[in-house]
Amino acid sequence: MSVLTETAAALVGGGKGILAADESIGTMSSRLEKAGVAPTEENRRAYREMLVMTPDLASGVSGIIFCDETLRQRLSDDRPFPQAVQSLGILPGIKVDTGAKPLPGAPGDTVTEGLDGLLPRLEEYVTLGARFAKWRAVITVDEMRPSVAAVRSNSHALARYASACHQAGLVPIVEPEVLMTGSHSMARCREVTAQVLRAVTDELRSFGVDFAATVLKPNMVLPGSSSGEQASPEAVAQATVEVLIEQMPADLAGVAFLSGGQNPREATANLAAMQSLPSPWPLTFSFGRALVDPALAAWRGEADLIEAGQQALSDRASANSAVLTGAAVG
Ligand code: 13P
Repeated sequence: MSVLTETAAALVGGGKGILAADESIGTMSSRLEKAGVAPTEENRRAYREMLVMTPDLASGVSGIIFCDETLRQRLSDDRPFPQAVQSLGILPGIKVDTGAKPLPGAPGDTVTEGLDGLLPRLEEYVTLGARFAKWRAVITVDEMRPSVAAVRSNSHALARYASACHQAGLVPIVEPEVLMTGSHSMARCREVTAQVLRAVTDELRSFGVDFAATVLKPNMVLPGSSSGEQASPEAVAQATVEVLIEQMPADLAGVAFLSGGQNPREATANLAAMQSLPSPWPLTFSFGRALVDPALAAWRGEADLIEAGQQALSDRASANSAVLTGAAVG
């Protein structure tokens, strides 16, 4: 097994999942403001310190994704974030795309940017301690979208990114997110998810990317959030696992789902239902909001609420980890 294959297996195995704490400066600042916290560099740092220092986080979390700002910041005890989490037995990761931008010629669609100068940036992240990376493509769904151009350009960028990661010595998390925002049906989400995963697999193959050293971070197949349609965890799991098996090669290292705006308990229940279905890969979580929203709401930037924030994160991380091992549903 190569080092990268081992790292990928460690990220998705052992009944653990990944904490996505890589909100960009802009997104993090607006989430802090909503929680009543001033959106300063120091508060973004203090918030991430609260998260990573959650007691026993490593029992449910294999890796944490940071953004560029955090990867370069230090804890209060002066240790850099990547080295601090590594010493807890958690792999440090880095979000390396520069965001979804309007795609010229395809109104309403976006393409994720960040390929220019990517390889030297990845090489620097390795020297800072990163072991894996993330790139998120964003696919909007309605009657007209996504365009073929959006699916192709995002899949192509994901494959170039994944290939550059392997060259630099990082495990790529490949995240093609079909948004749940919208009034589309669950059947439409399934159709678009299949189309996107097929295109991503084709592009990864054409770049010769080693699937065994690659983690897929997909959306679950869900009805659009304003469709009025409800789907049981069993139905979500069935549709999601089916489309993954249909489109993804069996030698992929594993699948780590994003939460995409589902409420935390719903995301956990859906993850639990997936576990009861056979699949060729480990299935786990790489949640952002479904893990950290309760922690941010409990902390609110107050030094004396750090423990409350950590307890909230710990509750979600343990609930998700427990469903992976079949222990309980949180
Ligand atoms: P959510 O789980 O909040 O969708 O975030 C996951 C993520 O990393 C988005 O890129």
